[in-house]
Amino acid sequence: MNMAVPAAAFRLTDGGLDAAERASRDEIQFLQRERLAWSLRHAYENVPFYRRKFDAAGVHPSDFRDLPDLAKFPFTMKQDLRDNYPFGLFAVPRERLARIHGSSGTTGKPIVVGYTKADLDMWADVMARSIRAAGGRPGMMVHVAYGYGLFTGGLGAHCGAERLGCTVVPMSGGMTERQVQLITDFSPDIIMVTPSYMLTILDGFIKAGIDPRSSSLKFGIFGAEPWTNAMREAIERAFGLDATDIYGLSEVIGPGVAQECVETKDGLHIWEDHFLPEIIDPETGQVLPDGERGELVFTSLTKEAFPVIRYRTRDLTRLLPGTARPGMRRMEKVTGRSDDMIILRGVNVFPTQIEEALLATEWCGGHFLIELSRQGRMDEMTVYAEARQDHWDGAGLQAQAERLVTRIKDTIGITTRVVIQGPETIERAAGKARRVIDRRPKA
Ligand code: DLL
Repeated sequence: MNMAVPAAAFRLTDGGLDAAERASRDEIQFLQRERLAWSLRHAYENVPFYRRKFDAAGVHPSDFRDLPDLAKFPFTMKQDLRDNYPFGLFAVPRERLARIHGSSGTTGKPIVVGYTKADLDMWADVMARSIRAAGGRPGMMVHVAYGYGLFTGGLGAHCGAERLGCTVVPMSGGMTERQVQLITDFSPDIIMVTPSYMLTILDGFIKAGIDPRSSSLKFGIFGAEPWTNAMREAIERAFGLDATDIYGLSEVIGPGVAQECVETKDGLHIWEDHFLPEIIDPETGQVLPDGERGELVFTSLTKEAFPVIRYRTRDLTRLLPGTARPGMRRMEKVTGRSDDMIILRGVNVFPTQIEEALLATEWCGGHFLIELSRQGRMDEMTVYAEARQDHWDGAGLQAQAERLVTRIKDTIGITTRVVIQGPETIERAAGKARRVIDRRPKA
């Protein structure tokens, strides 16, 4: 192992890639060891919450010698962020924060995260790296249709694209007609948007009578919600672009925690020089070996304002060895959050499995909604799926609905109702799509 890698060397760029992207696994681990020791100390010394948690668990930052020692430290959960709302988990005085972001989540108090200038700088670096991995180059034009505001998507993408040296169009989400017009008039090379809203933009092209394949878009960087490879193919085919997956969460930094490389499209490389992943068994909290599926956990290695130690994301995936960036591991596409898992009469189902079944049909463009209800003591699932304009018969495509019921039964193992609806009957979100409505009485 090369023990003489100065940490500073990892910020230099060479041959287009950051040094960390060219580093060996040993070099990355060496860096992680140094940075993790700092991050644990930083959290312990500056955030009373971490000090209490570490003390209660009987661990001290000085107990950390090597990477496996991380498993001795306690987890952090979303509830901890809520309990310390708004600023209780910051490791620097409020005056040192350069920016605040947050996310509303689905219920309860929003969560709040903060960044120092150095944090924003690091974030712009990893986002620039992500955009480049997706095919972006300096001088390209980037249309950002992630929402701007407290949500990290818009500003995260924006600052990364600027850092890479791109021309940024800060469009934000919504106003679909305007999106189509600006894409047509400005000729951007890249679009950054949630995959579900990309489908809405696609509808916008069709409505405007513009062939989406004639658009200038070469690369799409899609994330913020689970989506399938079937959806990737549908979007790539419709626009004639290369689509890659971007992952991140506010608590860890925002978008740019992991990004798929366009040359391999084989899962997302985690930028492990800043974010250390673990996979745990969500039931027992036990760390699982690489390759096994479980809940993704992150520890920040360099963040100043809002360090997170063993943050449980609730996202389910597994870790795989690096390919296009050999020193950094990949995570498989996130199939869903443990919170989104539907348990229907004993069978686990994720909305992405329904998405896959729908996109395997001729008639569905990918807009759908799942409704859960209870009839007597039985849970029922109804899939409302939208037909494409050119496949809609005005009635309900009964034969296709029955075929889909059979397919879902055969592949996923559950019995659903399928209701096929006309075009534009399912509500569109300008950001993350809402896939499930649960009408079951609360226990
Ligand atoms: O969604 C950050 C982001 C913005 C990522 C733009 C990518 C692009 P939050 O609002 O805090 O942050 O939501 C984070 O969204 O824990 C996952 O459940 C989900 N998520 C994010 N990216 C992906 C992805 C942003 N590529 C939560 N695939 C995460 C699946 C994703 N789920």
